[in-house]
Amino acid sequence: MEVIIRPTREAAARLVAQIVEMQLRRNPTLVLGLATGESMEPVYELLSESHARDGLSFARVTTFNLDEYVGLSPDDPASYRRYMNERLFSRIDIDLENTFLLDGLADDLDAECANYERRIAGKGGIDLQLLGLGSVGHIGFNEPLSALRSRTRVKALTPMTIEQNARFFDGDASKVPHRAVTMGVGTILDSRRCVLLATGEEKAEIVAKAVEGPVTSMISATALQLHPRCTVIVDEAAAAHLTQRKYYEWIFEHEPEWMPFH
Ligand code: GLP
Repeated sequence: MEVIIRPTREAAARLVAQIVEMQLRRNPTLVLGLATGESMEPVYELLSESHARDGLSFARVTTFNLDEYVGLSPDDPASYRRYMNERLFSRIDIDLENTFLLDGLADDLDAECANYERRIAGKGGIDLQLLGLGSVGHIGFNEPLSALRSRTRVKALTPMTIEQNARFFDGDASKVPHRAVTMGVGTILDSRRCVLLATGEEKAEIVAKAVEGPVTSMISATALQLHPRCTVIVDEAAAAHLTQRKYYEWIFEHEPEWMPFH
């Protein structure tokens, strides 16, 4: 794992967008794993701008989103399908047929999840998985006690996550679905590369636990310590509780891969 600390939220998001762009220019048929949430919004904004300004093309890209709420229709304003369509897909040249999200309205959710796993495998696996970090330490909707080898499945949301995500449901926690379908921790760990973005002081404590704490299913993001190629990108505010920042900064300064981004 590598930790990169950028001065601001914007700079952190810019680095994530630059990594996507670099991978995409190297491999136009990239299989990209996507995340939702507020932290990702500036990343999608920047990618949309690169498409408009520099012709960055997503025409041959396939995407798989991490998760979706159970019971929300794709055009529900709080659904992740709607989030993705509005913030990214409608603003780039991607073929919507190649954008996959779990269907939270499927009659047979278990079959839907198994099918999602098959689809990912059928595309050769995920090349680059973007991740946010929930306040409970979840990646996707892998709530506390998610098995570290779990696959795509239905998951009950914790009261804390429901409370946190009420902001997307007119601030009304009673409107937040109690269940979601999500890639499992094991599914995420199978991706060839992971980039987690966390910004803001409210993430500082959980970032430190995810990066420097012991691996535990109570905090699914700690499983990323097992991933062979994971980059955690944070802003100053989210880095506040990290104890080894001098070391992380030294790596960023000296690792040839990061030279173009200095
Ligand atoms: C939701 C999503 C997660 C995301 C998290 C972070 O709970 N299911 O995949 O990482 O939000 O959200 P934010 O970036 O808004 O803090």
